[in-house]
Amino acid sequence: MHSAAILLKEGGPLVVDERVTPEPGPAEVLIEVKTVALNPMDYLQRDTNFPPVPAYPAVIGCDAAGIVAKVGSDVSTVTPGTRVLAFVSSFYQNGSPDYGAFQKYAVVPFETVIPLPDALSFEEGAVLPIAAVTALTAWTTIGIPIDTRYTPEDKQGVLIWGGAGSIGSFSIQTARILGFTVYTTASPKHHAYLKGLGADAVFDYKDSDVVAQIITAAKKDGVKLHTAHCAVPDSLQPTLDVLRETKGDAPARVAHSPVLLPDHPTLDNTEIKFNFPSIDKAERDKHMYQCFHEWLQDNLKSGSVVPSPHIQIEGGGLDGLNAALDKLKAGVSGVKIVVPI
Ligand SMILES: NC(=O)c1ccc[n+]([C@@H]2O[C@H](COP(=O)([O-])OP(=O)(O)OC[C@H]3O[C@@H](n4cnc5c(N)ncnc54)[C@H](OP(=O)(O)O)[C@@H]3O)[C@@H](O)[C@H]2O)c1
Repeated sequence: MHSAAILLKEGGPLVVDERVTPEPGPAEVLIEVKTVALNPMDYLQRDTNFPPVPAYPAVIGCDAAGIVAKVGSDVSTVTPGTRVLAFVSSFYQNGSPDYGAFQKYAVVPFETVIPLPDALSFEEGAVLPIAAVTALTAWTTIGIPIDTRYTPEDKQGVLIWGGAGSIGSFSIQTARILGFTVYTTASPKHHAYLKGLGADAVFDYKDSDVVAQIITAAKKDGVKLHTAHCAVPDSLQPTLDVLRETKGDAPARVAHSPVLLPDHPTLDNTEIKFNFPSIDKAERDKHMYQCFHEWLQDNLKSGSVVPSPHIQIEGGGLDGLNAALDKLKAGVSGVKIVVPI
C-alpha cells in the first residue's frame, strides 16, 4: 500500500488515503515519486472535470521525478534505483489511477521515463516532462520535425506568445535548438532570463503597440516570421495580427497550446492547430520515445537545455497539494510550483 492524493468526485478536493501499490506491466516502470510539479490541467481536472476524468476515484497529476522501484520484463532503459524524471499521466491510460503522479508510487510507460542527470535535483527534474513534451509537440503538430536545424541563412523566425510560463520558456529553448530566430512576449522582469534561454527579442505584451513592435523587429531583422506558438490563453488574435503583416502571401502555421475554442480567430492561408500528440497509440508512443529518450535525454546531458522557468517549492507533501494547486490557479509569474511528497 502507499499514500495517494485521491480525487474522489468531480470538484474535489484531493483527499489523501492509502491505495494498493500496482505492479508495472512488461513495458512499464514503477517509480517512487519524490517530487511533483503542478500544471493548469491539474486544477482544471480537480475543479471542473476538464479534461474529463473517465472514472472516480482518480489520481491526477502528470509531472514527477523520483527513483525507479521496479521495471517490467521488457524494460532496459532504466533499472531499480535510477533517479528519473517522468511524464506520469493517467490521461492516456483511460484514467487508471495507477498512472497518476500525485501519489508515492506511480506506473509509467517506459517511453516517458528517463534518467535524471546527477546535477539536477528532483525539484528541477519534475518541472521538465510536460513542458518538454508540449514544447516539442507544438512543432510536430504544425509539421516541423524535432530534428529540424535551420541555419542563419534560412532566416526562419518564430513568435512564441507567452514566453515566461512553463510551456513558453521551454518552447523558447526548443526553438533555439531548431535554429529559429525567437521572438517572444513576457513581462519586463523576465526579459533578461528569457534571452538567457535563447530568445532573440522579448516584448512586453502589456504595451499597447506590442504587435507593431514585433512586426518592426522582424522586418528589420529580415526574418521570415510565418510560424508561431501560442503558449498562453487569449493570445491567438495578437499572434495573427503579427503574422498578417510578416507572412505576406506565404502560408503561416500556428500551434496553440491552450484549448482552442471553436469560434477562434482565423487568418487567410494560416493553419491553426491545437497542440496535441497523435491519438494513434503506436504513433504517440514513438513520438514520446523520441521526445524523451532521444531529444530530452541528449539535450539535458549536453546542457543544451535546462529546467525552466524558476522553481517555487511548496510544502505539505500530498496533504499540501490542494493549497499548492490553489496558488497556481490564482496565477503565477515566471515560476513553476513543485511539491516534494
Ligand atoms: N496542449 C497541451 O498538451 C498542453 C500541455 C500543457 C499546458 N497546456 C496549456 O498551456 C497553457 C500554458 O501553461 P503553463 O503551464 O505554461 O502556464 P503558466 O506557466 O502558469 O503560465 C504563466 C505565465 O503566463 C504568462 N502570461 C499570461 N498571460 C499572458 C499574455 N496575455 N501574454 C503573454 N504572457 C502571458 C505570464 O507571463 P508574465 O509572468 O510575464 O506575466 C506567466 O508567467 C495553459 O493554457 C495550459 O493549460 C497545454
